[in-house]
Amino acid sequence: MADRQFDVVLFGATGFTGSLTAEYLAAHAPVGTRWAVAGRDGGRLRALRDRLGVDAGVVEADIADPGSLRRLAEAGRVVITTVGPYIRYGEGVVAACAEAGTDYVDLTGEPEFVDLSYLRHHAVAERTGARLVHACGFEAIPADLGALFTVRQVPEDQPIWLRGYLSVTGLPSGGTFDSVLTAFARWRSAAVARAQRRRVEPTDRSRQIRGASGRPGYDRAAGAWVLPMPTIDRQIVVRSARALGRYGPDFSYGHFAALGNPLTAAALGAGAMGLFALAQVPPARRALSRLRPAGSGPTPQQRAKARFRLRFVADSGERRVVTEVAGGDPGYGETSKMLAESALCLAHDPLPSSAGQITTAVAMGDALRARLERAGVTFRVVRPR
Ligand SMILES: NC(=O)c1ccc[n+]([C@@H]2O[C@H](COP(=O)([O-])OP(=O)(O)OC[C@H]3O[C@@H](n4cnc5c(N)ncnc54)[C@H](OP(=O)(O)O)[C@@H]3O)[C@@H](O)[C@H]2O)c1
Repeated sequence: MADRQFDVVLFGATGFTGSLTAEYLAAHAPVGTRWAVAGRDGGRLRALRDRLGVDAGVVEADIADPGSLRRLAEAGRVVITTVGPYIRYGEGVVAACAEAGTDYVDLTGEPEFVDLSYLRHHAVAERTGARLVHACGFEAIPADLGALFTVRQVPEDQPIWLRGYLSVTGLPSGGTFDSVLTAFARWRSAAVARAQRRRVEPTDRSRQIRGASGRPGYDRAAGAWVLPMPTIDRQIVVRSARALGRYGPDFSYGHFAALGNPLTAAALGAGAMGLFALAQVPPARRALSRLRPAGSGPTPQQRAKARFRLRFVADSGERRVVTEVAGGDPGYGETSKMLAESALCLAHDPLPSSAGQITTAVAMGDALRARLERAGVTFRVVRPR
C-alpha cells in the first residue's frame, strides 16, 4: 500500500454529497495527506479542484468501464464513493477495492446492496486485507458509534436492551431520494439477498444478539410518539454487537423516529406508506424521481437549519442509562464530515487489525468517535450524569 499514489481518492466528487465531502477534505485533511477527486468528467473535476484551491489529484473513472475502476482502486489506500444509488452503480467499485486490497467507505443505506456486497466480496477482501466499510454517513454512524458508546456505560454481564430514538430535521438530495425509491421498489430482491446472507454468515450460538422491530405508539422511555424505522441502522448495530464482545451475551436494539405529537407521527407513517406504494409502479416512480433530480439538494440556508439528535435508552439489570449523539445537518453537512473522517481514520489512525466487510464500530470504533467529537458531533451521557 505504501506505493499507492494517494492516501484517499474521492469518487463521485462532482455530485451533491461528493462535492461537500471534497470541501470537507480541502478544509480538514491533515497537511501531507495526498488525496484526489475522481469521477467520470475530468473537466468538471479540474474545475472543482480549482474552485477549492487545493493540490488534489484528478482520477477519471466511469462505472461502465471496469478497467477505470481497477485503476481507481489501485490509485489510493482508501477509496470513498458517493456514486449512488449503490444497488445500481456501486458493485464495481466494491469489487475493484476488494481485489486490490484497498480500504473502501461509502454512504449506502441500502441493505440489499450491503448484503450482496457481503456475499460477493467479503471473502476476497478478507484475503487481500481490504476493509469494506459501508454506511459511513448519517446512516449509520450515529447509531453504530452511539450504541457502542452506550453499552460502555452499562455492565456487560447483564442483558442489554437498547433503543435509539431519532429526532431529525432536513430535506433529501436527488441521490438520496432516488436511493429511497429504488430500495422501496426492490423490497422483494432485498429480502432474497438477506436470506442468502443469513444462510452463509457464521453465527455465534452462545450469544443472543438481535434486532427488535417494535411498534408505533407512545413510548414512555422516549417521552415521545415513535415509529419503528426500517433503515439500515438497526442491522449495522446488530452486526457490530455480533462482532464485538462488549455488547454482552444478550443484546437487542430497536431504532425509532421520535415525534412530538401523534398527528405528525401518523402523517409521517402514512407518507412513508404512500411513497412505498407509489415506488412499486414504474411510471409513478419515474415521475416522483423527477421531483428531486440527480445533483440537486437542500440549499446552504436549509442545511444550516437542519439538526439531528439520536437519544439512546439502555436497560441493563436494574440500571437505566440515557445517552445522546447530536449534531447539525444530518443528511449532508454531518454526512460529508462523517464520510471524510472515516476515510482519514482508515488512512492515518492506528486501528485494530481487521479485513472484509465490517462496520464502523468494528473497523474504527473509538478512534472515529474521537475524530467526530473534535469535529463537533457530540456524544454524551444524559442520565445518570
Ligand atoms: N447514508 C446517508 O446518510 C446518506 C446521506 C447522503 C447521501 N447518501 C447517498 O449518497 C449517494 C449520493 O447522493 P447525492 O445526492 O450526492 O447524489 P448525486 O448528486 O446524484 O451524485 C451522484 C454521483 O454519482 C456520479 N455518477 C453517476 N453515474 C456515474 C457513472 N456512470 N460513473 C461515474 N460516476 C457516476 C455522478 O457523477 P456526475 O457528477 O458526473 O453526474 C455524481 O457525482 C446516494 O446513494 C444517497 O442515498 C447517503
